[in-house]
Amino acid sequence: MSELFGKKNRLSRIFNKSGKSIMLALDHGMALGPMQGIERPGEVLKKLTPYTDSIMLNKGILQNCYVPDGHVGIVLRISGAATIVGEDLTRESITTTVTEALRLSADAVATSIYVGTPNEHSTIRELSLLCDECETYGLPVLAVTAIGKDRERKTDPRYLALAVRVAAEMGADIIKTYYCDENFEKVVEASAGVPIVIAGGPKMDSVLDVLKIAENAVKAGALGVDMGRNVWQHEKPVEMLLALKEVVNEGINAEEAYSKHFGRK
Ligand code: R5P
Repeated sequence: MSELFGKKNRLSRIFNKSGKSIMLALDHGMALGPMQGIERPGEVLKKLTPYTDSIMLNKGILQNCYVPDGHVGIVLRISGAATIVGEDLTRESITTTVTEALRLSADAVATSIYVGTPNEHSTIRELSLLCDECETYGLPVLAVTAIGKDRERKTDPRYLALAVRVAAEMGADIIKTYYCDENFEKVVEASAGVPIVIAGGPKMDSVLDVLKIAENAVKAGALGVDMGRNVWQHEKPVEMLLALKEVVNEGINAEEAYSKHFGRK
């Protein structure tokens, strides 16, 4: 049997039969506390996991609030230890062992890299060493890419592509990036074939804009979304997931999915 079997099998629990993933991100509390929408994470998980392919969260919420039913892929975040009121939100390091992640039946582990910050060296190095360790167990690694504080850089495809390529070079199996309107295909190309999923960022005013971002990202080659706030801060999170699923998995256009689940504009 191939030595890649474990990794392939785990990835197949994250990416569905169409090769895409609707990943629900619920890891925000580790740095931002009980923000609006995830005050009661157990209720959010119970309500929304039937509509997702995978979930991304920390070990405490996984163990205490998630009732296993075997149908969603589990992406366990294993980096953190910085908060919104601390000195530096980017001063993350690995917080959980690979053994613990395996005990918790994670299908992948996630760690952040903070490119363009004083912590880029330590976070990139940790990603690389984590990839080496996880390779032994066939455990995929998701790299969460972030670009410093500079607002312009955060939406500049050159910086996003840089962070994505760095993650790919270090051995990541899945890369999460932010979407940008210009040249997003260049950001996808930078991954050298490693699957890309996009984060949603802060809640947007327009549902249609969320769906259009997902549509454009997938058209540019992304394999899914890893979204949190635009789902669980929305008053209709189930409808949001259903609409995202149609756009991402079935290639239905954003306008059509919007009309179906949210009525006419
Ligand atoms: C970012 O590093 C967080 O870990 C979130 O998982 C990520 O930003 C996705 O959530 P959102 O769609 O709310 O941005």
